[in-house]
Formats: sequence, structure tokens, C-alpha cells
Amino acid sequence: MSTTTKDDMTLLSSSHNKRRRNEKEGDEKTATTVTTNNNTNDTGTSRDYYFDSYAHHGIHEEMLKDTVRTETYKNAILNNKHLFRDKIVLDVGCGTGILSMFAAQAGAKHVYAIDCSDIVTKAKEIISLNGYDDSITVMKGKVEDTTELPNLKTFSTDNKVDIIISEWMGYFLLYESMLDTVLHARDKWLVPQNGIIFPDKATMYLCGVEDGMVKRDRIDFWSNVYGFDMSPIRDVALHEPIVDVIDSKQIITDTVPIFSVDLLTCSRASSKEYNNVNSFQSNFQLVTTRDDFLHGLISYFECEFTQVHAQTLRLSTSPFCHYTHWKQTVFYLQDVLTICENDDIVGVIDCKPNPNNDRDLDIQIQLVINGKFINNYQTQMMYRLR
Ligand SMILES: C[S@@+](CC[C@H](N)C(=O)[O-])C[C@H]1O[C@@H](n2cnc3c(N)ncnc32)[C@H](O)[C@@H]1O
Repeated sequence: MSTTTKDDMTLLSSSHNKRRRNEKEGDEKTATTVTTNNNTNDTGTSRDYYFDSYAHHGIHEEMLKDTVRTETYKNAILNNKHLFRDKIVLDVGCGTGILSMFAAQAGAKHVYAIDCSDIVTKAKEIISLNGYDDSITVMKGKVEDTTELPNLKTFSTDNKVDIIISEWMGYFLLYESMLDTVLHARDKWLVPQNGIIFPDKATMYLCGVEDGMVKRDRIDFWSNVYGFDMSPIRDVALHEPIVDVIDSKQIITDTVPIFSVDLLTCSRASSKEYNNVNSFQSNFQLVTTRDDFLHGLISYFECEFTQVHAQTLRLSTSPFCHYTHWKQTVFYLQDVLTICENDDIVGVIDCKPNPNNDRDLDIQIQLVINGKFINNYQTQMMYRLR
């Protein structure tokens, strides 16, 4: 009989809310090949799920049911069998093994599927069940701690893989910090000449948004709760970006790129000051497209598979495209601004991992707005994505 308590349920549900990296204590240092565990009663506890949110099937269900996401990978792989035939593939963060099985279906000679979460036990079972035991080696461990890919020399004389596939993107693209894991795998195992990474490019965009209803509901709500002033919580809520669906009709400025990365060529430490791949600073200029009220800025990202045959495949999380589980990331401003068409918003966005917890991102946005009714409005907001 289940003995789940209310506290367990809270832990369980909070761990499903966000895609989160594994923080399970005592992870093996070196990746080990996974043997199948047939004991179906051996389910994780809520504490396990808290530290290892990817161990629970719920998060994988959400990702697999995101058809924009999963179909784009499927099309990229299965419509490019000529790239995969007889090739060695590394799946970084294999989860349920879905991308590895697409690669095996596409004719890969061998696939290495690595994941540090307990979900790999299920991936191993799934891969066996679908008849890919011989073509996919499943390994449990952190990619960074994995010293060798078993029998790689028997498949490849130079001890390298031809293709890396990975779905590493977090909210605001960089949340979860998995990009560095893929680059680590690239530097260690990808063939130096003509190596393929799916996807190989990513760009983050910024634009202005009218979002009065949600700002009132999620932020201003705290100013008057059953007649009590709870504005200390309003201050906290305002400084946490919200992951939410934004209707394209709410976008009231043009859109500008603020960060882009080429996974084939970028170095793991981009500059001295920003010596982390999850850090960037970008100046931006937005022009408002109609008379309206500005409540905040939103960010979204796009990834590209440029090494596919013929036309580049794009996976977009734009509000102008179909829904994805990444939604958009909203940064509310302190004030509501009355803007007119062709007003000018000039700013700087700066993103760094939090010094005390490098999985969290500290994002600072500085703005100056000049327009018909606004004269030199300046603001500086500090956000923490956690
Ligand atoms: C976003 S999920 C993608 C799962 C699967 N590839 C898919 O497309 O459905 C990312 C996976 O990467 C794993 N992961 C994150 N960081 C990792 C690391 N450093 N080493 C190994 N696996 C990692 C997580 O446990 C998670 O299962």
C-alpha cells in the first residue's frame, strides 16, 4: 500500500514543475553500463525525485508529449539516414532513450546513451524491449565523469564518435546549465573533422510585452491579500522570471537576438570576465510597434540543425510559433509604461550563474526608454531564475 504523505506529495509535485538537473547525492563518479532491473516494486521515493527530478517519468512524459520538440529531433534524425548510416553516435542525457532509438532506427553502427539520472534503468529496459540491445550501450553517470565509452575502439579506430545528439535546452535556453556538458562531450569524443552535433546552433531573443492581466494576478496580487499588504512577497515575485505562455498578440516591440551559440565552434569559456558558457552580456535596442502598455520583456529561443540535408531544421519556442513546454520567460518591470508606436527602448542584459548556486542564473536588465510620453525613463532590475 502506498504511504505517500502530504509532504511527500509537495516534494513530488514541486519536482515536476520545472525541468531540473540532477542533484542526487552519491552519483557514481564514472559512468557504468546499466543492467536491467526487473524489480518493478523498486520505485524511487519522493526524496529521490526531489534530488533527481529526471528520475520520475512525469518529466519525460511532458518532454515526449511536446511534439514540436520530439518531432523536430525525429525528423532531423530519420530524414537524414545518410548522415547516421554506419556512424557512431553519442546521446548526451538520453533520458528514456528516445533519441538513441531514433539514431539506431536511422542506421547508426552504434549508439552510446549516457544519463546521470535513475531514468537510465528504464531506458535500458525500453531499449531491450524494442530490440536495440546490440546497437545501443546505455551508461549511467555524469558525462563529465565518464572516462571511456566501452568498446569504442572496436567501432572507431580513432576512438571518437561521429555524431552527438542532445536535448540540452532549459528555460531561458541556459537554465539547467547543460550546454557545457554537451561541449565537454564534444571536446572529448567528437571527431575533429566533419563532426555533427544535433542541434548545432541556438539563439535567444528578447522583445517587449503587454501582460497586464498576469502581472496583476501573479505580482500585484501580493499588494492586497484579503485586505493585508503582503508586498514583501511582491518584491520577491517581481524578481523571479515567470515561465508562461505569451500570446503573439501581446508582443508590442520588434524582436532582437541577445545571445547565440554555435556548438561546433564555440569555446567552453568565452571570455575572461564571462568565463562560463552560460554567461553573456548583450546590448539591445527595441522599437515599440503600437500604442500600448509595457509590462515587461520576454525571452525565447530557437535551435537549428544546420547539418541536415537541404534546408536547415529549426526548433522555435517563439510566441509566434506552436506551443512548446519551454513556453516563454517573462521579466516583469517594476512600473507599467505608457508607450507609443516607435518609442525607443535601449538596454543591456547580463546573465551569469549565481555564485552560490551555479545552476541558478542571475539576470540583470537595464533599460532607458524615450518616447512620445516618456522622457528618459531609466530602470535596472535584477532577476534570479531558480
Ligand atoms: C532534457 S532531458 C532530455 C532527455 C531525452 N534526451 C529526451 O530527449 O527526451 C536531459 C537529460 O539529461 C540528463 N543530464 C543532465 N545533465 C547531465 C550530465 N551532466 N550527464 C549526464 N546526463 C545529464 C538528465 O538527467 C535528463 O535525463
